[in-house]
Amino acid sequence: MSNLIRFGVSLDRELLKRFDDYLSEKGYENRSEGIRDLIRDTLVRREWEAADPKEERMVVVSIVYDHHESDLPAKLTELQHEQHGVVHSALHIHLDRHKCLEILVLRGAAGAILDLGNKLISTRGVRHGKMILTTTGKDLP
Ligand code: NI
Repeated sequence: MSNLIRFGVSLDRELLKRFDDYLSEKGYENRSEGIRDLIRDTLVRREWEAADPKEERMVVVSIVYDHHESDLPAKLTELQHEQHGVVHSALHIHLDRHKCLEILVLRGAAGAILDLGNKLISTRGVRHGKMILTTTGKDLP
C-alpha cells in the first residue's frame, strides 16, 4: 500500500498562478513536488526553532571576502580552528585576484554551529555571508 495521500486545497486563483509561475521558473515538473519541498522546508525550520541547543544539526555557511584585507583570512581560520570539532568540511574558491568564496559544512550541537556561523558572517570585512540551517534529514519523511 502506498503512503501517498491526495488532498484538495482551495486557493485564490491569482495566488495559485503566481505559485505555478514560480514552480516553472524553478524547473519543477509538477505542483506536488513544489508543495512537498515547501512543507519539508517548513518542518526543518520548525525542527531548528524547537531544537535543544545540544541536538545535532547541520549548517551550510558561505562567506565572500577579500583575502588581502589585513588579518581577515587569519581571523576566519582562527575561528574555525577554535571550533574544529564542528567543521565537517570547507571548500575555498579563489573567485578572482582578490576575492575568495568559502563554503563550510558545520555539523554538531545546534547552539555551537549557529554560534560559529554567526561569528564568521559577522566578522568585519566579510562582504557577503549566508547560512542555510539544515538537518541530517533522519526524521524527515
Ligand atoms: Ni582565495
